[in-house]
Amino acid sequence: MRSSRFLTVLTGAGISAESGVPTFRGKDGLWRKFNPQELATMDAFMRNPRLVWEWYEYRRKLIQDVQPNPAHYAIKDLEDGFEEFLLVTQNIDGLHQRAGSRKIAELHGNIWRNRCLRCGRISDHKEVYLREIPPKCACGGTLRPDVVWFGEALPQEILSQALQAAQSCNLLLSVGASALVQPAASLPLLALRNGAFVVEINPEPTPISERVNESIRGKAGDVLPRLVKRQ
Ligand code: APR
Repeated sequence: MRSSRFLTVLTGAGISAESGVPTFRGKDGLWRKFNPQELATMDAFMRNPRLVWEWYEYRRKLIQDVQPNPAHYAIKDLEDGFEEFLLVTQNIDGLHQRAGSRKIAELHGNIWRNRCLRCGRISDHKEVYLREIPPKCACGGTLRPDVVWFGEALPQEILSQALQAAQSCNLLLSVGASALVQPAASLPLLALRNGAFVVEINPEPTPISERVNESIRGKAGDVLPRLVKRQ
């Protein structure tokens, strides 16, 4: 860390687990209780927009009631310690922003924004009046959460920013990510191929654990603050 100029941090649902936000594939993961094909695809939204909208309201309520944890703050503290830095997150919960992180690439969007299916306008969720579900945009179009659903392309600009950071960094930390969902799962390996030192932090092994330089078995909220302190 001391000799690195450019740090890229990749985070997944595991970093918010200690805040009380369920992961997707962990023991009490969301996808063990709910069917993603019924809740997180455009087809599902077309079939039953009210169900999908209520699912995201349920998740907003859940996230609203929790706080960022020491792992989120540790990453915020790392941000200014490097000449170049990028936080690439798969999380849509906005907890990194609430912890004060600024240099963020949100690969899968953000649950606190909505997008109009007709005019494409992005609006802050705070602006929504739930007179009807799903709510309407000022243009009369239907609003959907500004998140990436299964089968959808990632926002191109943000994806290329993330790829660029993985290719050019000296050090990449992969924190709380199961390395099962593409293209995010490829970022640590891309960094490795470009000569970066890659460290994974996860209490469980993942498909990339044997390939990265260091795979630390531990919780992000324990490991990251200690790493920052020792830096
Ligand atoms: N600290 C670090 N890692 C943890 C912790 C913790 N306290 N608790 C759990 N983990 C790890 C789990 O071991 C698991 O490997 O976090 C990982 C969470 O994996 P997933 O639930 O698969 O979440 P993620 O990798 O973010 O999923 C990727 O899939 O469902 C889609 O769009 C969704 O962004 C999500 C994507």
